Amino acid sequence: SETEFIDGLMARMTIEEKIGQLTLYTSGWDVTGPSLNPTSTEELREGRVGGLFNAHGVAYVRGLQDIAVKETRLGIPLLFGYDVIHGHQTIFPTPLGEASSWDLDLIQESARLSAIEAAASGLNWTFNPMVDIARDPRWGRVMEGSGEDTYLGSKIGVAKVIGYQGDNLADPLTLLACVKHFAAYGAPLAGRDYGTVDMSERTLREYYLPPYKAAIDAGAATVMTSFNEVDGVPATGSSWLLTDILRNEWGFKGFVVTDYTAINEILAFGVVPDLKAAGELALKSGVDMDMEGSVFNRFTKQSLEEGKVTEAEIDQAVRRILEAKWKAGLFANPYLYLDEKREKMHVRSQVMKDHALNAGKRSIVLLKNEAVNDIPLLPISKSVKTIAVIGPVGDNQLDVMGSWHASGIEADVVTVLAGIRKAVPNALVTYTQGCGFEGDDTSGFAAARTAASKADIVIMALGENYVQSGEAASRTDIRLPGQQEALVSAIMATGKPVIALIAAGRPLDLSALDEQVPAIVNTWQLGTMHGVAVADVLFGDYNPSAKITMTFPRNVGQIPLFYNTKNVGRPIDLDQKYTSKYIDAPNTPLYPFGYGLSYTTFAYSDLTVSQPAMAMADTISVSVTVTNTGKMAGEEVVQLYVKDMVGSVTRPVRELKGFDKIMLAPGESKTVTFRLSANDLAFYNQNMDFKAEPGEFEVFIGGDSNASLSGGFELK
Ligand code: IFM
Repeated sequence: SETEFIDGLMARMTIEEKIGQLTLYTSGWDVTGPSLNPTSTEELREGRVGGLFNAHGVAYVRGLQDIAVKETRLGIPLLFGYDVIHGHQTIFPTPLGEASSWDLDLIQESARLSAIEAAASGLNWTFNPMVDIARDPRWGRVMEGSGEDTYLGSKIGVAKVIGYQGDNLADPLTLLACVKHFAAYGAPLAGRDYGTVDMSERTLREYYLPPYKAAIDAGAATVMTSFNEVDGVPATGSSWLLTDILRNEWGFKGFVVTDYTAINEILAFGVVPDLKAAGELALKSGVDMDMEGSVFNRFTKQSLEEGKVTEAEIDQAVRRILEAKWKAGLFANPYLYLDEKREKMHVRSQVMKDHALNAGKRSIVLLKNEAVNDIPLLPISKSVKTIAVIGPVGDNQLDVMGSWHASGIEADVVTVLAGIRKAVPNALVTYTQGCGFEGDDTSGFAAARTAASKADIVIMALGENYVQSGEAASRTDIRLPGQQEALVSAIMATGKPVIALIAAGRPLDLSALDEQVPAIVNTWQLGTMHGVAVADVLFGDYNPSAKITMTFPRNVGQIPLFYNTKNVGRPIDLDQKYTSKYIDAPNTPLYPFGYGLSYTTFAYSDLTVSQPAMAMADTISVSVTVTNTGKMAGEEVVQLYVKDMVGSVTRPVRELKGFDKIMLAPGESKTVTFRLSANDLAFYNQNMDFKAEPGEFEVFIGGDSNASLSGGFELK
């Protein structure tokens, strides 16, 4: 059995070999291929490495696994991890983009297919899902998560874990999932990456922790610590987070890996005098594996000899890692994931590309679509004669893969320009860059204006490049970078109809565009099939159905701005000076959470609550009729929000508690029913008990977080 095998193996391991299992090293890529730094290769041969990351490709991984299996004393196989975040070599939309689909089956399928592609390439572990709730779009890593909402973020985290892991981790087309970054990494002060996180335990437990818990309950095999501190304690050295909450409260059974050199960084936080003490704090707090920092390998044996850590603490971590290897099937066959035929069949296959296209178009959010001469600008008629594509995203393969695009193949990416040319082969489609993503250079404006003036319609392909969001890419100004806003004004001056496409990692401040451009499409960065997905929406082959999962602010000064804000004592009243508001901008966002347009329109009616009151042990159902009142078939994300009218502690103005995505033919109506239980109404009370309180509740249903159709019930 697993236990007997692991007991037997551990009985034969030296202390160095045990500590070695707690060590994860990168095998970085240099110009021509991957390489392992020389000390790690030596340590690997000595049996002092438990896993490697950033190594992929069957032939290369096989070479490394050979060293572990054939050259080390005990032949313990390695784990191979990688940041397969939104695809491996075929790139799917960035996670924040794909979250806008509100389509859990689609998201699960993206995880499943990226697991297949990555596992076929020799990997058995992904550092995903990233389930950090994020309310501040200045933080570059918002692109990697699901946005601002706890309920939606939890569902998406679960879908991803199931997608990556399947129901048998020893299936060579699955990956171990890693829930990250534990905890609250998405809330650094002022949106500055790696910055201080400081929030009440109530906020932490109510809004930030549930997605990690949900993903763990779904069976995630591993958890990654975060770089930040939480309430004065670096997360990588926090026994409250890693043992009290993760193990004792939640019952997590897998292993905990640090983020990159996060143990070493405990020193920089100034809570330990040296690296050895950092390692002791991390191990005793509940860290099992040291990513890249080499602190365990360098110091833990000495810590043991000095009595600062116990052999039982080391053994516990070793056991958890060996258990993961067992579950991944590596003891039965260390070469399980290494099959060239499988690699050839799955990597960059048509199946992957088809899914990238489907996921891409389902992630595109139509933000604005005004009529020009009484006809909405979008979709564009395919009989259009001349189109000018203008902007730095127009003919760009690299940047539309977004940050964390793993080993995505740039040459496979379909650009906006190529996608449009393919969709309307009879039209003349010109391309002018106009400007880049940064700097002051406006010398391309004249050519762009000339191109625009010759066209029937102008498509401006704008956004961020792939390093302007992602890790270590926080911004204080979240408008379109470089001269792109000025380029828009220059093109608008030609009087031509303009459609703006925004391919960014984060919600941008689009106020300047919203003021002047009649049609805005937030495409996000969609990966390999970007251009085809965009063209499908532009020309009406796909009716956009996505809705933003992070609030788009009017300006950076409103941040953090999110829909489920708390009640305050002096709510905004424009006629009263001393109320909660700004004097230079509205409180409202430019586009609210849950918002997105379609080429058709939907009407909501007949909100019905099944009974006026519900007992604690009961459930209540809330239904609504949704009708497609336009001329095109389309999908709508029907959203249910709940407001607790009176709580023993302050409650948010409303919270998402259900959603459903439905397809409606023109004129068709459907009834959507949601079920609520007391658990959906629970929160942390004054004693920090998670409970629902009797009283009145209001429910709202609609197509975004401003939903106004309402009803109510009492919880008895
Ligand atoms: O998984 C990542 C993490 O999200 C950020 N630091 C590096 C890790 C491994 O690449």
